[in-house]
Amino acid sequence: HHEIDQDLRKSILTNAALCVAGFFLTQRMIPVASRYVSKRGLFGFDINKKGTPQGDVKVPESLGIVVGIVFLVLAILFQYFNFTSDSNWLVEYNAALASICFMILLGFVDDVLDVPWRVKLLLPSIAALPLLMAYAGHTTIIIPKPLVSYVGQEVLDLGWVYKLYMGLLAVFCTNSINIHAGLNGLEVGQTVVIASAIVIHNLMQIGASSDPEYKQAHAFSIYLVQPLLATSLALLSYNWFPSSVFVGDTYTYFAGMTMAVVGILGHYSETLLIFFLPQVLNFLLSLPQLSGYVKCPRHRLPRFNPETGLLTGTRDGTLINFYLRIVGPKSEKSLCIHLLFVQALGCCFCFMLRYFLAGWYK
Ligand code: UD1
Ligand code: MG
Repeated sequence: HHEIDQDLRKSILTNAALCVAGFFLTQRMIPVASRYVSKRGLFGFDINKKGTPQGDVKVPESLGIVVGIVFLVLAILFQYFNFTSDSNWLVEYNAALASICFMILLGFVDDVLDVPWRVKLLLPSIAALPLLMAYAGHTTIIIPKPLVSYVGQEVLDLGWVYKLYMGLLAVFCTNSINIHAGLNGLEVGQTVVIASAIVIHNLMQIGASSDPEYKQAHAFSIYLVQPLLATSLALLSYNWFPSSVFVGDTYTYFAGMTMAVVGILGHYSETLLIFFLPQVLNFLLSLPQLSGYVKCPRHRLPRFNPETGLLTGTRDGTLINFYLRIVGPKSEKSLCIHLLFVQALGCCFCFMLRYFLAGWYK
């Protein structure tokens, strides 16, 4: 056991060292890529600056492509430095990378071609296919103790329904990050908060368990989330208020898919969904507009007042608007900090919930 722990620690630290290099590489590459995307017409106007001089500046779009490429390079190189011996590991790891890579491609396609909404929602289910097809892990769920008497058994094999669930999770994680957006720094900021919570969760699980396979599953998840965190932090340094670059759907889809993949392969997707609590709320508030029951405009953002520099909530069904209508008008920067704080609170809530519900399983 001691040897396994040593190997895991060595692998995780090597991965972290690669990530530090990845952070600086991403930070170097973003300004270079910015010039190229702008030259090709990939830019956007900052909607929450409309009416001020900043509102007329062309902001380079889709810089998620840099993050995605550096992430893939890190994740591919890392295979050479993984010190634990697990033969199944490579198959699932590479299937995960194929899905993430496919998602980056489709995200970039969406940024360049502006795919219509209904099609957009389905792109992640296509990108998830490599993982779904290669997935050989179990398809069972453990029934919480208080419910065992109703279900009649302690574990339930869901078979293909479980794979359907995996596909839906990918669709949810990607789109829910993409539609909780429109403030400088929010798309990347929420990813940074959730990815940090995932790393903490993984480390806690590795520390608490004595089952080598269980530890391996959580280490696996760290190998993918650490590079996501490092490259995202580099992007955040440019995307933070006032943004000098936009991330594009390339980034939101890539980040969502990476987190869905680690949740699936690490077998903690229910925990992941609690980390996504604000996104779940935003999704529920958005349902009337997403389903087409209420008209859905291209942008569902608060109203910006160029005189005061403050944002006021509108009637569009988003968490941003809902929050603004509770706390009153806010500047873009402080609103983003507030929402990231809410996100972090949700993650703390999740850790507490796990702690108190621990007796429900096992
Ligand atoms: C999603 C949201 C949309 C929101 C948009 C903002 C739904 C159904 N869709 O659409 O309501 O307005 O994200 O990203 O909820 N932008 C800013 N400031 C930012 C980030 C983006 O002004 O901090 C603007 C820029 O003009 C940028 C554009 O949004 O070019 C990018 O929008 P895009 O990511 O393509 O929108 P969607 O993901 O389709
Ligand atoms: Mg978007």
